[in-house]
Amino acid sequence: MRRSIALALTLMFVVSLLLVVVVAAQGGSAQRGGQLYDNWFKVVGASPTGNMPLWATQSTNTRSGEDTWRCKECHGWDYKGVDGVYGSGSHKTGFPGVYAARTKSVDDIVAALKGGTNADHDFSADMSDADLTDLATFITTAVVDTDLIIDPATKAVKGNATDGKALYDSTCAACHGADGLAIDFHAGTDEGPEFVGTVANENPWELFNKIRSGQPGEAMPAQLDPSSMTGSWTLDEVSDVLAYAQTLPEERAAATSAPTELPTTGGSELPVLPLGLAIAGLALLGLGLYRRTLLQNS
Ligand code: HEC
Ligand code: HEC
Repeated sequence: MRRSIALALTLMFVVSLLLVVVVAAQGGSAQRGGQLYDNWFKVVGASPTGNMPLWATQSTNTRSGEDTWRCKECHGWDYKGVDGVYGSGSHKTGFPGVYAARTKSVDDIVAALKGGTNADHDFSADMSDADLTDLATFITTAVVDTDLIIDPATKAVKGNATDGKALYDSTCAACHGADGLAIDFHAGTDEGPEFVGTVANENPWELFNKIRSGQPGEAMPAQLDPSSMTGSWTLDEVSDVLAYAQTLPEERAAATSAPTELPTTGGSELPVLPLGLAIAGLALLGLGLYRRTLLQNS
């Protein structure tokens, strides 16, 4: 009896181990795919030259060069292309999104990324099959309807900012500061300063993608990656952090806007706990001395 239970358990263990191996071998990484979607050439270390060939089929978006090769530039941070945020404004190309393609097979999407449906939609010169599979895995498993989280008209986020604060403080604050002002993303450029709060309010879709997939080329944790330093967050948790990030300041107050160097995070905070302990210790000591004097006097 005992032996058969042990045997069954061993079998179950072996089968689940095999399953994990098979799944890991087949599926690409949605998290890495999301970063490739953001800026694939930064992730794979390529430098595409000229404009993406399909760029010439539109004239509304006047950017040129590397920007024209980013998936997000044609298909949008909200994955909806012309049907979403990039349906108007300076990023408008009129190109479709990838949202509808999420029901396709990974193989079909990889084929489309090798020019299978349009010869000019070919990324195989710079990206490997593994890269393209990561992109396709991102599209088929991680692309969601952002309208359920971000109101496309008002940019308001459906999330609980209080829950988001706890997650932000434990996950993001170490690098970006509790107020999100520690890193200016536009430092060293001639553009105005940009912080977590700025991105959260101006382009919550971009922040949504970056919280889940990470920042290309940077050691920023990615919530679609279960092995990242913070593990993976549910969509609700991502929404909560988005909602909280929208409450963060969008610029440094006049007095603190002077530093051009990155301020060191944390160092300026008062050491509350050690100070408290020291004061409590002194108080106890004082009390003890007082009692001794009282006893001696009586
Ligand atoms: C210069 C603009 C541009 C860029 C950059 C671009 N695409 Fe596309 N994409 C298009 C256009 C236009 C289509 C419409 C169908 C076609 O012509 O292939 C399309 C179609 C697609 C489709 C749907 C294919 C199908 O069979 O329905 C997917 C998926 C897709 N792109 C993913 C990506 C990914 C991932 C990247 C980044 C590696 C990317 N695209 C980069 C313009 C672009
Ligand atoms: C380990 C450090 C680290 C952590 C933790 C971290 N980030 Fe970042 N993040 C970075 C770095 C580095 C950059 C790139 C800065 C630059 O390009 O100037 C960045 C970039 C960003 C950007 C700017 C993207 C852009 O290009 O406009 C945003 C927004 C952002 N992070 C938000 C977050 C949020 C929200 C969290 C928590 C979920 C987080 N980060 C956690 C290091 C970190």
